[in-house]
Amino acid sequence: MTMTLEPLGPPHAALLAGLHRRCFVEPWDEAAMGSLLAMPGAYGFLAASPEQPGAAPVPFGFILCRRAADEAEVLALLVLPPFRRGGVAAALLDAALVEAADGGAAAMFLEVAADNDAAGGLYYAAGFAEVGRRHRYYGGHTDALVLRKDL
Ligand SMILES: CC(C)(COP(=O)(O)OP(=O)(O)OC[C@H]1O[C@@H](n2cnc3c(N)ncnc32)[C@H](O)[C@@H]1OP(=O)(O)O)[C@@H](O)C(=O)NCCC(=O)NCCS
Repeated sequence: MTMTLEPLGPPHAALLAGLHRRCFVEPWDEAAMGSLLAMPGAYGFLAASPEQPGAAPVPFGFILCRRAADEAEVLALLVLPPFRRGGVAAALLDAALVEAADGGAAAMFLEVAADNDAAGGLYYAAGFAEVGRRHRYYGGHTDALVLRKDL
């Protein structure tokens, strides 16, 4: 899919909250996004349609991460439903992994619900491996898998 990847910053808080609301039943609001974007080491990318004459770019996905010392972590990753299965998340994840490695991180971590087949498929295809499990972490019933990829 043709897209641009734009680095994230605090001015994106409202936009990210709007995208998050369209993908999750427990959305993170603008204030929460603003706090995450303001954390030391926070970084990420916004995926959008390319600028066209007479048409504003349409944002349709993002990845938000944090780097601390020699580790990085994916905090959020989503792609709006009509834009899925086109390689958008894979491109966002690739960009985040490159940025983490360039910044000196030796590994990337993330948490994913054990029943999230789409995200699990994405992360395992990208080379992540399970290194831990938090029992009944989501909603008191769904396990969270802790995944890691060495950089
Ligand atoms: C998970 C998510 C980000 C994937 O986004 P996407 O842009 O559709 O993913 P991609 O097209 O880049 O897929 C890359 C690979 O991931 C895997 N994958 C993606 N969606 C999948 C699905 N529904 N079922 C199984 N595997 C899937 C496949 O291996 C795929 O490669 P392929 O298309 O060549 O088979 C998207 O489904 C989403 O936003 N879900 C809701 C939010 C969410 O769960 N975020 C992750 C929280 S940890």
